[in-house]
Amino acid sequence: MKRRVAILISGRGSNMAALIDAAKLSDFPAEIAMVISNQPDAPGLVTASQSGVPTLTIESKRFGKDRAAFEAALQTALDQHKVELICLAGFMRLLTAEFVQRWYGRMLNIHPSLLPSFPGLEPQAQALRAGVKISGATVHFVIPETDAGPIVMQGAVPVADDDTPETLAARILAVEHRIYPDALRLVAGGGVRLEGDLCKAPANVAREDVLIAPGPVSPL
Ligand code: GRF
Repeated sequence: MKRRVAILISGRGSNMAALIDAAKLSDFPAEIAMVISNQPDAPGLVTASQSGVPTLTIESKRFGKDRAAFEAALQTALDQHKVELICLAGFMRLLTAEFVQRWYGRMLNIHPSLLPSFPGLEPQAQALRAGVKISGATVHFVIPETDAGPIVMQGAVPVADDDTPETLAARILAVEHRIYPDALRLVAGGGVRLEGDLCKAPANVAREDVLIAPGPVSPL
């Protein structure tokens, strides 16, 4: 039985689209049951509808500061659609600790940095300011702390001296579109185990690929 997944978005929805595409494969262990946006004008809603995925808008602005009421509406929709797993994909609304704890081990997020480095806003600009030579993206289980929680999968990219936040974001985004579907496949297929704060993937042997940046360095 495929696990039923809801994707929560607020905007463009390119990660959502990558997840929807992957879930079309017959051997994928999850199906996208619905896409929920807290923004009525999120472009991702159109993309989802065009792919035949049911969409729902629960406009967070209507609820003002009443997070509990917003999340009650969200939970009702998730229950109605028998959702088992949530993927946050550019969902720009903070969730309460209570909601997060209710979904612990069943809610994933993607963040465009190699966590625990550069949580929060503008992680690509943070990476450039820190001068790191490698950055990337992280899929993790959601915990109450923002952009933290057991790490399921990461993908790395080199950072170039002349990168801008935009060029780095584009390079990282391409990796996001690979690892989010792979991570969901792993989680929905029962391939991970939570051990305290860590996520282990017992069947996954670490590969020997290395990424060195800048490189290769030629003799002077
Ligand atoms: C992505 O970079 C994601 O990592 C971050 O927000 C962005 C959403 O982009 N959480 P999209 O809506 O998936 O195109």
